Amino acid sequence: MRLYINVDHVATVREARGTDEPDPVRAAVLAELGGADGITVHLRGDRRHIQDRDVELLLRTARTPINLELAVSEGILDLAESWRPHQVTLVPEKRREVTTEGGLDVSGPAAGGIREALDRLHAAGIRTSLFVDPEEEVVRRSADLGPSAIELHTGEYANAAGGSEAAAQLERLREATDLAKHLGLAVHAGHGLTYENVAAVAAIQECEELNIGHSVVSRAVLVGIERAVREMKERVLRARIG
Ligand code: PXP
Repeated sequence: MRLYINVDHVATVREARGTDEPDPVRAAVLAELGGADGITVHLRGDRRHIQDRDVELLLRTARTPINLELAVSEGILDLAESWRPHQVTLVPEKRREVTTEGGLDVSGPAAGGIREALDRLHAAGIRTSLFVDPEEEVVRRSADLGPSAIELHTGEYANAAGGSEAAAQLERLREATDLAKHLGLAVHAGHGLTYENVAAVAAIQECEELNIGHSVVSRAVLVGIERAVREMKERVLRARIG
């Protein structure tokens, strides 16, 4: 099982101040030291967190593979083709959403755009994944489009009230995983996974990659604050001594 760490929200903090820290590229180096098997970033059309510069630097400096999340949109696909990251995960994107809501629509007219995007990405030698809901019909339609993998949306599992509701959502993820493997797809999972709820998803043997962001960045703030304050205090006190 590979653990990819999504560093988008390091960039969210940076963008809140419009400055150059914290740098998601530096965070990626530390994530790798912590054992991350890959780094995930979502280059949104509105550039609300990750910037083009971040992706370019990550591709030059990361020691692990980069999974670039993006929407099916002309300008961003052009960038992905020229950058050639290890993997592109196609995701839905809505302007007003706080985070990615729901999986890709893989039916109707949307499917044509996805198929074209996959063809372009494969021609550029990029591994591909589609972020989709764990539903039989969606998994079947996804397989027809020919990606290398699907990433199962774990949001409904993560939001389940617990007990039987969580068990039912977990069963959906297991069934979708079995079907996807049967159809020849690699299976990834992510969204809303936390230190508390990750174990059951990580235990799905056929799932080979997890993408986790918010919970890890949130924890990093808490486990890091004591040291950060100590370092600042040392500098302040040292300045007084002269
Ligand atoms: N996978 C995909 C496709 C996502 O869009 C996101 C959120 O950016 C994640 C995984 C990670 O979700 P979270 O930040 O809740 O761990």
